[in-house]
Amino acid sequence: MAADYVTGIDIGSFSIKAVVLSHKAKTPRLVSFGSTPTPQPGMNSEFDLDLDAVSKSIKSLMEALKAPQEVVVALPESRIFTRVIGDLPYLSDDELASAIKYSAEEFVPLPADQVNLYWQVMDRSKQRNNTTVFVVASPKNTVAKYLKVLSKIQLKPMAMETELIAATRALVGGNPYAPTTMIVQLGASSTDFAVVSKGMILLTRSISTGGIALTRAIAQYLNFEMMQAEEYKKVYGLLQDQLGGKIYQVLEPLVDLIVTESGRVVQAFENKFPQNQIKRVVLTGGGAKLPGLVIFFANKLGLEIQEADPWYFIEKDASIQAKLLENATHYTIAVGLALRSE
Ligand SMILES: Nc1ncnc2c1ncn2[C@@H]1O[C@H](COP(=O)(O)OP(=O)(O)OP(=O)(O)O)[C@@H](O)[C@H]1O
Ligand SMILES: [Mg+2]
Repeated sequence: MAADYVTGIDIGSFSIKAVVLSHKAKTPRLVSFGSTPTPQPGMNSEFDLDLDAVSKSIKSLMEALKAPQEVVVALPESRIFTRVIGDLPYLSDDELASAIKYSAEEFVPLPADQVNLYWQVMDRSKQRNNTTVFVVASPKNTVAKYLKVLSKIQLKPMAMETELIAATRALVGGNPYAPTTMIVQLGASSTDFAVVSKGMILLTRSISTGGIALTRAIAQYLNFEMMQAEEYKKVYGLLQDQLGGKIYQVLEPLVDLIVTESGRVVQAFENKFPQNQIKRVVLTGGGAKLPGLVIFFANKLGLEIQEADPWYFIEKDASIQAKLLENATHYTIAVGLALRSE
């Protein structure tokens, strides 16, 4: 049965974000949202003590938000393997299951018995003799770790998704008329890319350059503590006319790496789907707030660049509008997760 209230929890390496939505009416309504710093080393650790600390932080955040226990969480893109398999003939369900197991051996660098396979049929046509599926392979030990962190505080996971599936739901929804979009999710430890067409993810990629790398570069260059470097990053970012362009010079090569990878994703997509052009790029995640980033992307990619607004499809009180906009891009994944109503 569908739940009336759903809490989306995005356990990032930098912060934990939670969003509570009510699904009582046709349009989901915002009930509460918030975030808390992730106790380090967070989910990267294999030790119970560290995972306990994460559970405790989630618990405090849930209490502050008066969040219900039905939760949806995301598995980090960098830990899972996804692929769109489009070159299959028309297959029955059983045939498809074995075809997917066989294909997974190619793109999953782990033994078959150590991963859970999940797939969504995107297209199946007898006439065109084609089956296209979106496959997610999640390492069993990663899934078990997330379940453990939730069960320690009696949360009830309704579902686990990938970060990019959640981001896609929040930013594009099921809108079949939305232009083909590349989502660039700029996190602390990674940057993840998804190309979405007609509400479906057709390509994903993840690289291990994120916001922490930018902060570290500033800290090293100016001999700062990370906290102070973080502040400089947020204030000056890629603004060339600030501090004699010093911060720009430090950040430019790293951000260029991210933009270059975006260009490669565009290329890879257009090679694979020559009839389907990417029309816009949406920047999301905490790193999307870097001053000057939108213009930097636009200059290098020559595509329309937008900052994400995950609250767009959500009913909310006018009085909190300004607060929502402030850190909107941080909440994309948590919103997408909470939008899942069953
Ligand atoms: N105004 C800002 N300008 C630039 N960077 C920012 C700003 N606000 C936050 N960030 C950066 O965004 C990152 C945090 O983003 P986010 O919350 O999406 O990460 P996360 O989900 O915790 O990490 P990950 O998904 O990689 O595990 C940090 O590196 C932080 O420095
Ligand atoms: Mg994140």
